[in-house]
Amino acid sequence: MIVESKDNMDFERMFTLSLEALNNSYSPYSKFKVSAVLKTKDDRFFIGVNVENASFGLTNCAERSALYSAYSQGVKKENIEKMLILSSSANIISPCGACRQVMAELMDRDSVVIMCDLNKNFKLIKVKELLPLEFTSKDLL
Ligand code: THU
Repeated sequence: MIVESKDNMDFERMFTLSLEALNNSYSPYSKFKVSAVLKTKDDRFFIGVNVENASFGLTNCAERSALYSAYSQGVKKENIEKMLILSSSANIISPCGACRQVMAELMDRDSVVIMCDLNKNFKLIKVKELLPLEFTSKDLL
């Protein structure tokens, strides 16, 4: 019997969900499909894709779509464990600046971001490493 580690099982599940979700990307302008799968500590998965608009600036990235979906369904940041990001390009992509700001606020600082390509090569980074000196609610005081 092959004993798979929990991390490997999570990766396989998240990769499969992400690969399927690329089909849902609404990206008629860039033709660049992105998906993100967020996993909670209690093993729930939330999917996001990039959703573009003819008014380009209104585009929502996959990472923010996944986070807003999770929050809309009641997920709290303490319960977020990791997020996998995949695109239709050959390369690993990393989250844009706008998404980093949102991730810094809505994800647990120690949660993990898995930046992945279609061949399952990946890089890992923690949310707290994504955006040094981020603007936070404390700055509003
Ligand atoms: N995009 C994402 O969804 N996530 C990223 O991390 C980078 C970029 C989207 C936005 C746009 O729909 C397309 O990719 C090209 O920039």
